[in-house]
Amino acid sequence: MKKITVFRGDGIGPEITDTVLDILNAAGAPLEYEIFNVGQKEYEEHGALIPADAYASFDQTKVLLKSPITTPIGKGFRSLNVTLRNRYDLYANIRPAKSNTAVKTMFHDVDLVTFRENTEDLYVGIEEQIDEDTVHAIKIITRKASTRIIRDAFEYARAHGRKKVTCVHKANILKMSDGMFLDIFNNMKLEYPEIESDSIIVDNVCMKLVMDPTQFDILVMPNLYGDIVSDLTSGLIGGLGLLPSSNLGTDYAMFEAVHGSAPDIAGMGIANPTALLWSACMMLEYLKEFDCAKKIRTAVDEVLKEAVYLTPDLGGTATTKEYKDAIIAHFNTFTASDK
Ligand code: NAI
Repeated sequence: MKKITVFRGDGIGPEITDTVLDILNAAGAPLEYEIFNVGQKEYEEHGALIPADAYASFDQTKVLLKSPITTPIGKGFRSLNVTLRNRYDLYANIRPAKSNTAVKTMFHDVDLVTFRENTEDLYVGIEEQIDEDTVHAIKIITRKASTRIIRDAFEYARAHGRKKVTCVHKANILKMSDGMFLDIFNNMKLEYPEIESDSIIVDNVCMKLVMDPTQFDILVMPNLYGDIVSDLTSGLIGGLGLLPSSNLGTDYAMFEAVHGSAPDIAGMGIANPTALLWSACMMLEYLKEFDCAKKIRTAVDEVLKEAVYLTPDLGGTATTKEYKDAIIAHFNTFTASDK
């Protein structure tokens, strides 16, 4: 049994976390869990956003399944997500967006993976009040961080037989910072002659993605563009409820849904747990538990295809529990030949 750390988070976090753990247990995932409440609610009740024993657990297990956390807008504490990514140097944020034929969108064949640099850019959060009417925000781009995320994108392409890597930037305006990111990309692509590579300005890629997402494959970019463009890719496949992610460093790995704590539907029992569940599948694959991940992915595909138990964000009327029960019911029909 592999021990992992679980953070239950805010808003819909606790309900989707409990749902995902039920599904993992029903699938026979060989995991033990150290579960912690973290986030705004935990802060209000016990005075710490992330309790010391929660950090200690992740220090030790090195694998974290994390649900969304509410971050105050325009004031208050720094994003816990940013804090975690920096503390554990989780530099590669990988966000795969793949069409599921069951979910009605304009496109049926989206298969994109966003590689987002996760530790710098404007997310260093350095802002300075110059005078009453002027604020500066600092964007940091380093050769080290750019090189490793671009390297990871090309290595992923090679390992997974993907055809193309596209660098997304704004080097026409940010000639030094994004310019360096692009230069590193242009030099590194020479080491991967079998993989097609190109580059595109971030505003242009947004337009092209919504016109025809099939012209892209793997996208690699600095932090802010990655945050925005990957939400856009979620819209191409049916919404935020379907976009999982991994946050990988050299020693630690964190898996989380891309969406936030969805306070507008918290406690209503209708949240879609799929993004967190697919993040858990990425975690199982990271832990080399491929059969278990496949068992869950197959069951989810079947339930989405049948379209009987879809949550409201996907146009259905099912509750989170009905959706969960439908997935678990599919495990019983999963035969050895499906493996
Ligand atoms: P959000 O992603 O929480 O919600 C946006 C919209 O999508 C809402 O209408 C929500 O109901 C819907 N939605 C999101 N996830 C869903 C799901 N699983 N099932 C069904 N519908 C879903 O974004 P919002 O409202 O901008 O942010 C709320 C809070 O979450 C903020 O405090 C924000 O800072 C935080 N946040 C946290 C993240 C994290 O912990 N990784 C990521 C993004 C936002």
